[in-house]
This record gives sequence, C-alpha cells and structure tokens, in this order.
Amino acid sequence: DWNSGNVIAEQVERIRAQVGSGRVLSALSGGVDSAVSTALVHKAVGDQLIAVFVDHGLLRKGEREQVEQDYVASTGVRLVTVDARHTFLEALAGVSDPEEKRKIIGREFIRAFERVQRELVDEAKADGEPIRFLVQGTLYPDVVESGGGAGTANIKSHHNVGGLPEDLQFELVEPLRTLFKDEVRAIGRELGLPEVIVGRQPFPGPGLGIRIVGEVTADRLEILRDADAIAREELTKAGLDAEIWQCPVVLLADVRSVGVQGDGRTYGHPIVLRPVSSEDAMTADWTRLPYDVLSRISNRITNEVREVNRVVLDVTSKPPGTIEWE
Ligand code: XMP
Repeated sequence: DWNSGNVIAEQVERIRAQVGSGRVLSALSGGVDSAVSTALVHKAVGDQLIAVFVDHGLLRKGEREQVEQDYVASTGVRLVTVDARHTFLEALAGVSDPEEKRKIIGREFIRAFERVQRELVDEAKADGEPIRFLVQGTLYPDVVESGGGAGTANIKSHHNVGGLPEDLQFELVEPLRTLFKDEVRAIGRELGLPEVIVGRQPFPGPGLGIRIVGEVTADRLEILRDADAIAREELTKAGLDAEIWQCPVVLLADVRSVGVQGDGRTYGHPIVLRPVSSEDAMTADWTRLPYDVLSRISNRITNEVREVNRVVLDVTSKPPGTIEWE
C-alpha cells in the first residue's frame, strides 16, 4: 500500500545512512525529478547539501529564473549556478547524431559538476576533501529504458543513466530510482514544494539539445526557445496543462520548405508539436488538442518566429514513436 509519507521517511533514513556526515551536491535541472530528489535530500541532510544548477544553454525560456527564484524561495536550499553555455555549444558543434548528442551532454554535465566539486571542498572534513556524493533524479522508467532493468534493450541513453562517463568521480544518491512520475509528484507535494514546480510537465535533462533535429547551434536554440514559449503559453492559457503529459516542441533544423508571406517567398524550417497523454511515459498516445488551440499556436509561431514558416502535428503514439524525437 503506497503512501508518500512512508516513502519519504524510508528514503530519508536511507540517504542519511548512505552519506553520513558527508557533503552532497545535487544536480538541479528545474524539472520535477531533480527538484523533488533535491528537496528529499535536503530534508535528510539539511545544509550538508549544495544544489548546483548548470545553465547548459539548452534550457527553455525562463527556466533559469524559475530555479534561481521560485525553487530557492520555497526550499531554502543553498544554490550555486554555473554558466556552461559556451562549453556545451562547443562540445556539440558539428554533431547531429542523437545518441552522440546525449552522450556529449551527459558527459559535459558531469564535467561541470566535477569543476564545482573541485571548488567546493567538503567542509565537514578537516583536510578539505572534495565532495563525493551527487544526487540525481533518476526515475524507474529512466532505469528501464536505458537498459538497467532486467531483459530490456537500450532504446535511448537517458543523460542521467547511460550517458555517464566511465571515470565518474561521484557516488550517486538516487532516491527516486524505484518511483514513477505521479509518485514523485505526490512526494513533492508532501514535502511542501509549490504547484508550479511539482505540477511541471516533464522536460528531458538534455533539454532543447535533443529537440533540434540536426546540429545544435545558438541561432537554432533561439528559434526553438521562442516557438516553445509560444506553444507553452497558449496551452496554459487554454487550461490544458493538466490534461497533457507534455508537449515537446521540435525544430527540424535540416529541413526547409517553401512558404509565402505577404508578397514574398519564404524558405523556412518546420516546427513539430508533439502533445502526448501518458501515465508514466513508458507508453503514450498523441493528445487530441482542440483545433482552435492548434490554430492559435500555429499562427503565432509562424508570425512571431521569423525562421519558421510551417507548424506540423505529430500524431504518433508510443510505441512506435518515442515521446522525444531523439
Ligand atoms: P521518450 O522520448 O524515451 O521519453 O519516450 C520518455 C520520457 O523521458 C523524458 N526523457 C528524458 N528525461 N533525461 C531525462 O531526464 C533524458 O535524457 C531524457 N530523455 C527523454 C521525455 O521527455 C519523456 O518524458
């Protein structure tokens, strides 16, 4: 019989037993999973925890501010922000293969943490040892889909499981490893996190990097960020957030099509809307969004984002499609 209070109590004990008096770093991404795992570890070990937010430049509009303001205000967690935008873009230059992107992003994530780790020594140790523990918001479906579960194939390297480098310098603390998303949300609410954080739709760790089909560049990120912000704004305005599991917005950066605007010919990129309904992301169906909402999103994106001249709707369930395009 599942009960969020019991799970919290049990995990708090486990975390304390694992880390003792050691210091802990947490990989905060702005998503629900890392927000809840961080809050859980914070509950267990208090200010032994330092949350680290890596701005990898693959974030959506307003995400960094949400973490720096809302999350810190609601938890009182100690937060260090790292600006790694340049490093990630450089590492991703020239790369279009999805798995390669995922591995690079996963690797750069860890490298960024290791840099912070070197700077922040363990204040509990007299000889100033580096911080050894790292929290990750890995969920059960992440473990299964990265081939960690019995008899499963590796479908995608989720950045927080399959993409870790061999020479990992951390011992991982993963308090959500046996849980599904709805359970994680229940725990977050029980821990007193605000609804804007707990109710957030899932967003992948590799961020917009795996929503640009093709090479990731600063210009392409800008286009996708603008289109994504419009789609999210319209879905929220239409009151559809609770109904949709998530709605990836994807830029087909290597595809161009001909369009017309005013008297002129355009030759722009398509944006794909991928609204899905799901219980746990293991399977999903495409969400039948109202036509008027789709129409508003399409009109606004093609009017407001100069480089986009076509908006298309993904009507594939999972399987055979995955939720993300990469
Ligand atoms: P797929 O595309 O595999 O996605 O159907 C299933 C769910 O997982 C999210 N996702 C990720 N989450 N790191 C994450 O933390 C990742 O690397 C990653 N890849 C996909 C995706 O958004 C969906 O909710």
